[in-house]
Amino acid sequence: MQEQDYHYTRARELLARAEELVSADTVQAAVRNVAEVLNQRFDTDATGAFPLVLGVMGGAVVFTGHLLPQLSFPLEFDYIHVTRYGDQDRGGEVVWKVIPRQNVAGRIIIVVDDILDEGETLAHVKQRLLDMGAAEVILAVFADKELGRAKPVQADIVGLTIPNKFVVGFGMDAHGYWRNLPGLWVIKEEDKQVEEEPPAA
Ligand code: IMP
Ligand code: MG
Repeated sequence: MQEQDYHYTRARELLARAEELVSADTVQAAVRNVAEVLNQRFDTDATGAFPLVLGVMGGAVVFTGHLLPQLSFPLEFDYIHVTRYGDQDRGGEVVWKVIPRQNVAGRIIIVVDDILDEGETLAHVKQRLLDMGAAEVILAVFADKELGRAKPVQADIVGLTIPNKFVVGFGMDAHGYWRNLPGLWVIKEEDKQVEEEPPAA
């Protein structure tokens, strides 16, 4: 079997076994709410704040792409790339692949990310930006996972609160699959497992 056949089949099967959690319409409504909260503060801001919006790649790419055109105030956009070492859903050390290229000192930073899970990633990002002299760090996440326990950091703006399940869609992936879905789908527990390498071509 060719490697691409393997991924095609595996991605299809994973989605066939998944269950829809949030429809595409509900996702869009959540994005509008996040935009509204930000517009309410910054569109009417008499201080003339010019925030730096930082998208956390790669999961935030879809959320960021939908959110930015709905923001109605002057801003600057850039991305950072942070990942937790090893498997995403198993935790580990936070690694910076792309650090902020703008000077963040003295600025209001709006960090946009896909999901607040255990919160280690965003806690680390926020602290690092504050250490670099950011005046304020606002965390805007598309989804906040209900873990039933305290997290090391809280999001300031949340699109949706979701149960403690592993989801794909709207930028979030499992094994690289299905970031492109317009809604959120819960995958089966067995599909979270990392399989052996795909068969050689
Ligand atoms: P945290 O440090 O546990 O908050 O990790 C957050 C990161 O893990 C997110 O930015 C996602 O990239 C990834 N992640 C956490 N939960 C999920 C999920 O349910 N689906 C896909 N990715 C997830
Ligand atoms: Mg992420």
